[in-house]
Amino acid sequence: MVDTSDEWITSRTGIKERHIADKGVSCSDMAVEAIGRALDMAGCSREEIELLVVGTVTPDYRLPSTACVIQEKMGLPNAVGYDIASACTGFINGLSIVAPQIESGRYKKAVVVGAELLSSFTNYQDRNTCVLFGDAAGAAVVSGEEGESGIISTFMKSDGRMRELLWAEVGGAVNPYSPDFTYNGRDKIMMNGSDVFKVAVREMARAAQAVLEDAGVDPSQLAMVVPHQANIRIIDALAKRLSVDPERVYINIDKYGNTSAASIPLALDEANRAGMLKSGDYVLMVAFGGGLIWGSALVRW
Ligand code: COA
Repeated sequence: MVDTSDEWITSRTGIKERHIADKGVSCSDMAVEAIGRALDMAGCSREEIELLVVGTVTPDYRLPSTACVIQEKMGLPNAVGYDIASACTGFINGLSIVAPQIESGRYKKAVVVGAELLSSFTNYQDRNTCVLFGDAAGAAVVSGEEGESGIISTFMKSDGRMRELLWAEVGGAVNPYSPDFTYNGRDKIMMNGSDVFKVAVREMARAAQAVLEDAGVDPSQLAMVVPHQANIRIIDALAKRLSVDPERVYINIDKYGNTSAASIPLALDEANRAGMLKSGDYVLMVAFGGGLIWGSALVRW
């Protein structure tokens, strides 16, 4: 499709494979699948879910929210659902929204899902971006339980001055689709990769340090770091800045590429199902994305 090579993609990004959803599969379809598996694992019924937060930049429709579509498809009769547009930070932002609501007792059980049909939003003529992104969904059930486990600290920050480093110019209300307009890919993801790279390394490290300091946890106490999977070189640089042993950093970018809000729950689920997480472990999640927006969550497993 574009002038590139496996060697370039692998050495610059760490990506070997990406997954593209079948035609006709929507963002909500993938989310339904992921949420169903999360509910099964948590032993939680659909009726128990009171809050559904969906992180996505590829909603099924502009109106209504994808959360409401998911709610209808799954049957979550007692939930309120809404979307958050925090790009690749969507899952972490979802956790940061849900955690205090669970802590306060306002809701007993919530679902946070990151779901992205990025193939619908990728310009396959732009080699700067099209080799990076894939489709996926990942979900977690968050509930209030007695004991030591839980979401210990979250941190979120954005800087809208950098919004044009990673954005889609056309398709919103400022520049709506119009037959008079030549898009030239401006309705798809556009990115200044090297600038995003620098901010990502710096701010992911700061976000990670913020929750560690808040919780009084030293990086050496982390059992696992689950970073947003955007580029293996960003992840390596983050691990170095945090002085975390690379073995304790979960990496699956080779298999999925950058799946935006889905990347952290996808990685967390893989690590969990592989038996890599034990009760009491400190798990740090950290992400950044278009906005620019970044954040972190420290969890005691
Ligand atoms: N195949 C071959 N060459 C490519 C290419 C591709 N797929 N994509 C870009 N190039 C070229 C560029 O055109 C440039 O060529 P030039 O020097 O002749 O102009 C050259 O490779 C180097 O580009 P540069 O942007 O400096 O490469 P890089 O080492 O920074 O890697 C990214 C590019 C996109 C992989 C990297 O910047 C990155 O991962 N950035 C972060 C992006 C990100 O994570 N975004 C999502 C946020 S959630």
